[in-house]
Amino acid sequence: MSERPTKAILRVLDGEPVWPLPIWIMRQAGRYLPEYRATRTQAGSFLDLCYTPRLAEEVTLQPIRRFGFDAAIMFSDILVIPHALGQEVRFVENEGPKLDPITSSADLKRLADELPLDRLDPVFETLDCLSASLPRETTLLGFCGAPWTVASYMIAGKGTPDQAPARLTAYRDPAFMQVLIDKLVAASTAYLIRQIDAGAEAVQLFESFGAALPPALFDKLSLDPIRRIVEGLKQARPQAKVIVFVRGGGSHLHRFASAGVGDALALDWTLDPAQILPDLPGRVATQGNLDPLALIAGGEAMEKGVDHILSAVRGRPHIFNLGHGILPETPTEHVAQLIARVRGTRA
Ligand code: CP3
Repeated sequence: MSERPTKAILRVLDGEPVWPLPIWIMRQAGRYLPEYRATRTQAGSFLDLCYTPRLAEEVTLQPIRRFGFDAAIMFSDILVIPHALGQEVRFVENEGPKLDPITSSADLKRLADELPLDRLDPVFETLDCLSASLPRETTLLGFCGAPWTVASYMIAGKGTPDQAPARLTAYRDPAFMQVLIDKLVAASTAYLIRQIDAGAEAVQLFESFGAALPPALFDKLSLDPIRRIVEGLKQARPQAKVIVFVRGGGSHLHRFASAGVGDALALDWTLDPAQILPDLPGRVATQGNLDPLALIAGGEAMEKGVDHILSAVRGRPHIFNLGHGILPETPTEHVAQLIARVRGTRA
């Protein structure tokens, strides 16, 4: 018989209800922390920060030191995959990511056939360092973007409202879209396997742009690719735990659960756990889902939001989190108050 995990988050991912709920927050290492901004300045560019293990380790640890979250998520970005495949990627101050758009089969051919894993060695080294430096009770998380979300950046070359360029490509040239998605499935699977080997205990897939997909495209571009990655990872590394976050996944979530895709499903803030959870099949765990703006507001708005989630998930395997990433304008005191409320202690 395999040993039962002792870390709170791994117990939840094993299907065990844990109380008080373990907590981490998406984008917990970031600009709302003054110590992050200082290290970010020291690093120079955002990609230099991602690819310098000593600095990436430092910013991963900052929110753990300050707040004692139950999980640390390695510091990196979903766009290191297109970068490693050979696409030009830059992060422009106050504008976000910029890539040289991939729009033709000729552009696609210029990308590497297989993910050159050695280009991502700094990420694996960061994980290796973190396995040694994290407190013993803290779960180490790896991650990658889901293929549709990453493809939408690769095609548009930037963030776009409703991912219109990638959606249009999916209608006009489904064969091109499928080749790109398949490439990302293979790359992401190989990348996550290496993350597990480097010390990640669980990984999260970020489908940040699931809400843009019409039902007719959802299975082909989101559910299927995610299912193939999770199956490939689990086949290679059966112990790996997976959290699947599909922003806008709403009505599709029960299909992820019944297909057994993911040990936990992360809910975005538009979903009411009191309604969703009773209908979710199987023993799938859940994660989420306070509105990041309720955390900025703090006070009663935050307390009500937290209390509603706590009462809806009581007795179930659930990890407390936000319904999407924390925003740069979030006051750090509110984060401390959030954790105290979830843990039933004082800030
Ligand atoms: O703490 C953590 O969660 C780990 C680090 C992490 C980052 N990005 C660091 C980052 C993670 C998990 C991501 C994922 C990511 N990156 C997603 C999916 C999650 C989500 O929020 O939907 C997406 C869509 C990206 C792409 C990306 N990276 C964008 C759109 C931007 C610019 C927008 C912004 O917030 O400025 C980034 C840059 C980025 N990635 C920053 C951080 C901390 C800010 C850059 C900076 O410090 O200048």
